[in-house]
Amino acid sequence: KRVAVLISGSGTNLQALIDHTTEQNSNSSAEIVLVISNKPNVQGLTRAEKAGIATKVISHKDYKSRDDFDEALHASLTSAGIDIVCLAGFMRILTGGFVSKWHGGFVSKWHGKMLNNHPSLLLPHSRDLTHVFVLVGGFVSGFVSKWHGKMLNIHPSLLPSFKGHNAHEQVIKANVRISGCTVHFVAEEVDGGAIIVQESVPVYHGDTEETLAERVKKVEHTAFPKALELVASEKALLNSDAFISWR
Ligand code: GRF
Repeated sequence: KRVAVLISGSGTNLQALIDHTTEQNSNSSAEIVLVISNKPNVQGLTRAEKAGIATKVISHKDYKSRDDFDEALHASLTSAGIDIVCLAGFMRILTGGFVSKWHGGFVSKWHGKMLNNHPSLLLPHSRDLTHVFVLVGGFVSGFVSKWHGKMLNIHPSLLPSFKGHNAHEQVIKANVRISGCTVHFVAEEVDGGAIIVQESVPVYHGDTEETLAERVKKVEHTAFPKALELVASEKALLNSDAFISWR
């Protein structure tokens, strides 16, 4: 499968993905053919160039709106014949329209116009993923685009706990004793998609965001290649109802 990795920074996860997919005798089902960064001159771009992988900078600052930026990203990915997209420390929230485009576009078309009841008291800012995708599956069976279930993200906590950009800070404040990382399919709810792989690490008394981040990154570097292989080899397939079928 042709894989694009989207980054914004140091790219240690990108490096792990490159190493695992190019390792001799790896029999990898994935080949990283494109690295896109929304920031110029980041270390991740240098890593890609060293590995002989095509790179592209698509700066969000060059676009008037999130939609325009996402449109440019989408165009680059499709013109490169990409099958799978990995978000590896990509620090932009993709608009629902972008994710939905990869899922068939239904939710975005009906944004703000589709209501449903839910048999629980939902948290004010949470959107129940299953609920959203049951709707998608129900309304658009046969309409789901070929991109559905082809975009992965890595998050530095054990989801569904500690979503958002400051996961390590939240973990330390919550005084939990275990954290880790999660690789999941991207859904419209940020950090809310179906979980493919998780790895855990201990949280020690006296940990800082930096010491915890370093410990978590070590497991990220095995979790992400594992998840990519599961998806690229079609052992983990995302259904239209947002659950994964395992083969
Ligand atoms: C990782 O901790 C990842 O979980 C988060 O951003 C960080 C990226 O690090 N989404 P790197 O650029 O791969 O080193």
